[in-house]
Amino acid sequence: MLQQQYVELAELAGGFIHEIKNHLSTLGLNLQLLAEDFGEPQSQRERRSFDRIQRLQGECGRLVDISNDFLRFARVKDLERQPAHLDALIEEMVDFFGPTARQANVEIKVYLPGDLPPVLLDQDLFKQALLNLLLNAQQAMAGGGELTIQAVREPDWLVLCLIDTGKGMTEEVQSKIFRPFFSTRPGGSGLGLPTVRKIVEAHGGTIGVESEVSRGTKFTIRLPIPSAGVNGSGKGTSVETIANLNGKQMPLAEVMVPALDRGFLFGDAVYEVIRISKGKPFLMAEHMHRLARSLDAIRIAGVDLRRMEQRIRETITAGQYQEATVYIQVTRGAGLKRTHAFPAQATPLELFWVQEFVDPYVEARQHGASVTVVPDIRWDRCDIKSTNLLANVLAAQTAKDKQCVEAIFIEKDGTLSEGSHTSLFGVLDGQLLTAPNSNAILPGITRGLVLKLAERAKIPLREHVFKHADLPKISELFLTGTTSEVLPVVRVDDQQIGDGKPGPVTRRLQEAYQQAVNEAAG
Ligand code: PDD
Repeated sequence: MLQQQYVELAELAGGFIHEIKNHLSTLGLNLQLLAEDFGEPQSQRERRSFDRIQRLQGECGRLVDISNDFLRFARVKDLERQPAHLDALIEEMVDFFGPTARQANVEIKVYLPGDLPPVLLDQDLFKQALLNLLLNAQQAMAGGGELTIQAVREPDWLVLCLIDTGKGMTEEVQSKIFRPFFSTRPGGSGLGLPTVRKIVEAHGGTIGVESEVSRGTKFTIRLPIPSAGVNGSGKGTSVETIANLNGKQMPLAEVMVPALDRGFLFGDAVYEVIRISKGKPFLMAEHMHRLARSLDAIRIAGVDLRRMEQRIRETITAGQYQEATVYIQVTRGAGLKRTHAFPAQATPLELFWVQEFVDPYVEARQHGASVTVVPDIRWDRCDIKSTNLLANVLAAQTAKDKQCVEAIFIEKDGTLSEGSHTSLFGVLDGQLLTAPNSNAILPGITRGLVLKLAERAKIPLREHVFKHADLPKISELFLTGTTSEVLPVVRVDDQQIGDGKPGPVTRRLQEAYQQAVNEAAG
């Protein structure tokens, strides 16, 4: 089913159950009053009525329980995950469940290796899943038995098993137990195990079951270990790219976006790229602020950027990333069909991933780069960081075809505005120039920092455009960007800039930039 339809249906069902619960509570209250009235039956008839009232009270209670189970099931979506130690959480749950188990003659044995790596958990939800499984095991062992809880580490997964010596299940039952409303237990809502599965899957994990009648049942939960490469002996090995789609963490390769997603269909989306240096996101507040501005400009509402920032920080910590980038993309979501105008209701799709950064500009930053000039065929709102990047893509490919690191856009009046993915600075008559922010360029975050650094270094500067015709007089040229940092340009097509080497102003700003990065990383 389409994600959007599912969300709508779940919301509708949730609202419906709430409504029913309100009426159930009135019903329950009245039944209680009636039960009090008939509490001391005077006749056979009154006794029968009292019995009936009690049965109705029981049914009413059951409806409340089912409704609560349903709401718990429907509510598993927005996870608040933090790095957590599963062993501590299991011990807490076993402690909590101990008295119930003892009463039921169930002995719990726990085997956990001491060096389990942390995993990202929504602890409250995960405890709920564990409790469900513990209760399930206890109910399967009516006359008592043994419950073994063990965990092992695989390269990319933490594997948790719960093995009981209960009555077991036939293959047919096993194939249905994760289906909502399937239950073999009289009075069961049939939502316990489906909720467990939903919780595990929302953590990017899987749950499986093996069972034998009269012997017992084993549930196996697999939870992803964030960025397995860095936790262990990972130095030098490539680090897994951790993605997060709508709050759900998964390897980037497993991210699936619906075909009707408007980011995919129309480029109806905005994005950010943030650099992580020495384990810390650099200029994160500025990037999140620009993201908010972009969202606002294209009228996407309801995205909790603080929660997203929190999730990004958690992912960086859990993956122990040092030199990396975060790519963030928010789309308007998916409509029910492809229409240009906004769909009546669409939930924005929130995606980010954290990827190890291998710097491609080390050489160019030292010796200077070549660029080419291409006509600016973009739209009139280049200040919005939208994923509508076809003109930028074609420009960058032209540059690549010409063995240049970047393409610079030229406007109809000859102005050199910015690069396909960088901002542009030049030094003309001893003055640092860069195009003022307007609809024609992206307000680069690195551009903003470099302007501040130049001011601090007392470099004369002016936010003013320069033109292609100025190139012979331009003594220095450089690009700025999140991943390019401060990148000297020594050639524009056939024209050499200055003496063909990175100039002193560029060098000073490169140093100041590096200092700012070091300061931010502490
Ligand atoms: N590009 N101009 C354009 C058109 C850009 O796409 C970018 C960034 C910049 C530099 O902005 P900042 O300093 O905030 O990174 C200027 C990103 C990195 C990209 O598309 O990958």
